[in-house]
Amino acid sequence: MEKLTLIKAAIEARKNAYAPYSGFSVGAAILCENGQIYTGCNVENSAYGETLCAERVAFGKAISEGERSFVAIAIVGGKDSVDTPCMPCGSCRQAMAELCKKDFKIILKNGDGVAQYTLSELLPHAFGIEV
Ligand code: THU
Repeated sequence: MEKLTLIKAAIEARKNAYAPYSGFSVGAAILCENGQIYTGCNVENSAYGETLCAERVAFGKAISEGERSFVAIAIVGGKDSVDTPCMPCGSCRQAMAELCKKDFKIILKNGDGVAQYTLSELLPHAFGIEV
């Protein structure tokens, strides 16, 4: 799977963002081990704390369809342009730590290129309970 294909899916998903309060629209696209892609966008709420991040919307869609094995996520976000890397928030990193392996890839649009991290780089020493 081409990284740019995943970024394009995130850019498409961002078009559906509901972000009337922040004006900051985010799109995410998750690649599963079986090749399936699930997308999400942020969904804000006037009770600000109830806002859903794009990444966790995408994970919710994937998990609820029975997916359990994830390879990578592309994230794009911004008010007008999406050229500055949109780092996932702490809550989304913790969600990834729950559902993904340490080498899960986080792919961010960075100008015309990409920035890429592993989950263990973005959330080292993550909290978790062995299940
Ligand atoms: N947001 C995301 O969708 N994902 C993140 O990882 C960081 C923040 C959204 C939440 C809110 O709607 C807007 O970006 C500004 O914080």
